[in-house]
Amino acid sequence: MPDSPSSPRLTFGAAAIIAVVVAGSAGAFAYTAGWLSPQRLTPPKLVDAFAPGDPALGHRRNHAKGICFTGTFESNGKGAELSRAQVFQLGQYAVLGRFNLGTPNPQAPDGTVRVRGMGLQIATPNGEVWRTAMINAPVFAVATPEAFYQLLQAVGDKDAEAMKSFVAAHPEFASFGAWAGGGAWTASYAEEPYNGLNAFTFIDASGTERAVRWSLVPAAPAVAITQAELEKRGPDYLEKEITERVRQAPQRWTMNVVVANPGDVTADPTKAWPADRRKVEVGTLVVQKIEAEADGPCRDVNFDPTVLPTGIRVSDDPFPAARSAAYARSYDLRTGESRYYPRTPAGAKP
Ligand code: HEM
Repeated sequence: MPDSPSSPRLTFGAAAIIAVVVAGSAGAFAYTAGWLSPQRLTPPKLVDAFAPGDPALGHRRNHAKGICFTGTFESNGKGAELSRAQVFQLGQYAVLGRFNLGTPNPQAPDGTVRVRGMGLQIATPNGEVWRTAMINAPVFAVATPEAFYQLLQAVGDKDAEAMKSFVAAHPEFASFGAWAGGGAWTASYAEEPYNGLNAFTFIDASGTERAVRWSLVPAAPAVAITQAELEKRGPDYLEKEITERVRQAPQRWTMNVVVANPGDVTADPTKAWPADRRKVEVGTLVVQKIEAEADGPCRDVNFDPTVLPTGIRVSDDPFPAARSAAYARSYDLRTGESRYYPRTPAGAKP
């Protein structure tokens, strides 16, 4: 005879199952929150390290200064042999993006920030979006998210020795360091390349997978300028310049996808792949309109690099997952602080 609902055995069994489920959920929550391993790197720790104790409320916790844009991605169809994502089929797709500076300070003078970036979203008619956030450096500064946390701590340390110790302990920082210290500056977001740096996996129509990285190469020739000259042009020169430049003509970048050879390192963005790797030009980004930064269409967008269409997936590169968690944390904080975020003054034009 089946147990009746009031049978003691069922009551005990059900209670035991509930207890296990509750304990399991509590354990999972504690694990996720990092309570079980205080030394573990968690998204709050990583995000707080950008501006310890003094974040710019309401703003992105990094790349806080920027300017939004809209435009199109003109796909030439050549990427379709590498990935089945609709974005690589011949056509034009809507773009939302944001030029930005790699700083947690939304008021930082342009001439003081070496790293410039671009957040990009391309939407396709099948309802999918591809989000990516790229920078002008040719390689990333560190090989792991943990080393990135240590770098942020060294940068924030008042003792100048901290940065020296970091560099000595991380020889892989040298390539980025050489670029940051030696490369030419430009006076325009339009003259910069934007490199994805992290490795992803493309899946083609037959299911074949390939490791790739992507870059945007500007059509505008780079005009070198010294850091001192840029500083003289004013603290917010870059956003004024790009607004005027795009008003006069759309600005273009070629998107290149570079395919790894078997054995190329995909889990370390400090390591550039050899220059002879297969490169496929897949289309052109056309920036057509500069949009308001405050209250504009980028404000509530998180350019999370794991938001990917069918046909692109993450690889063994540890950064995209760590970035996704950190960007979500930053997004939650800044949207919860929206009363501190500047509003576009009534009647003002972007
Ligand atoms: C573990 C490493 C990293 C951490 C913790 C980190 C953290 C962040 C955070 C917190 C934001 C603000 C997100 C938001 O509020 O919407 C951000 C934005 C951004 N990051 Fe990263 N990042 C990392 C690695 C990278 C890498 C490798 C790149 C480039 C290849 C990159 C490029 C950018 C860009 C361009 C933006 C601005 C996107 C926008 O306009 O909203 N980051 N990052």
